Amino acid sequence: MATTRALTRLAVRRTAVPAVWTRSFASVDTTPREPIAKAGDPSRPTVPESKTSTIKEPTPAKEAKTKTFHIYRWNPDEPSSKPRMQSYTLDLNKTGPMVLDALIRIKNEVDPTLTFRRSCREGICGSCAMNIDGVNTLACLCRIPTDTSKESRIYPLPHTYVVKDLVPDLTHFYKQYRSIKPYLQRNTPPPDGRENRQSIADRKKLDGLYECILCACCSTSCPSYWWNQEEYLGPAVLLQSYRWIADSRDEKKAERQDALNNSMSLYRCHTILNCSRTCPKGLNPALAIAEIKKGMSFT
Ligand code: SF4
Ligand code: SF4
Ligand code: FES
Repeated sequence: MATTRALTRLAVRRTAVPAVWTRSFASVDTTPREPIAKAGDPSRPTVPESKTSTIKEPTPAKEAKTKTFHIYRWNPDEPSSKPRMQSYTLDLNKTGPMVLDALIRIKNEVDPTLTFRRSCREGICGSCAMNIDGVNTLACLCRIPTDTSKESRIYPLPHTYVVKDLVPDLTHFYKQYRSIKPYLQRNTPPPDGRENRQSIADRKKLDGLYECILCACCSTSCPSYWWNQEEYLGPAVLLQSYRWIADSRDEKKAERQDALNNSMSLYRCHTILNCSRTCPKGLNPALAIAEIKKGMSFT
């Protein structure tokens, strides 16, 4: 697989991010998010536009409300071909409201070779994560901007190896997730021999953590993760780690903290906060990371 992966990493500009420390875990971020890198940003390597690639849908309506989508394309079966952008023009009157609807229409009616992941189409499975107009988000939760004079640009998640078109290779990300042992660990059986119970107050501590769908939008927006992802676990995996550290039923809190107590796994987070800003589920991985650090400094 490694030989067929595109070695192209999409550089994305670091942006200044306002502090969000006062948000609770369960709060939903409704503030509009700035693009991580805008189309045309000189810091982002340009992917050449193919001159022969503009494709319109077969029968545009008379009063068509057309919008153009420029989409990153790369095919591992043509390893000598460089990645390119391909343009598709759709009539929004015939297209659902979300970017995923547009992608599905393109695939079904215009170009079946376009490749992307999707499953639930309602922000639950995390598989349609991609970079849309400079923001890492879920295509199924992202509305198509109705301003038809502006064209949309869609890329795979930044700083990932690409399997094909909009599909990132998340093998390493999942390996890191496995490394934190994301399951309940206990030495003692439950007191009643049946269930590991938890008080309502302790259960509430998991709000804002258990909702993470491991879409990787946050990790792939984190500059520290871009440069150190071989060793730094990144915001998504660290939020998941804290989900188990904070669980009153788990008995391996000390071991979990010990595993993070080195210079790379946790402490590469420099509180840049791109992660909390971009999370399409409104979660706050930076706060989870801060809670891990706080817990470790007082033990
Ligand atoms: S914290 Fe948010 S952005 Fe990060 S993996 Fe979980 S759901 Fe996705
Ligand atoms: S707060 Fe930490 S994890 Fe989040 S983007 Fe910044 S460096 Fe990355
Ligand atoms: S298709 Fe499942 S999150 Fe978008």
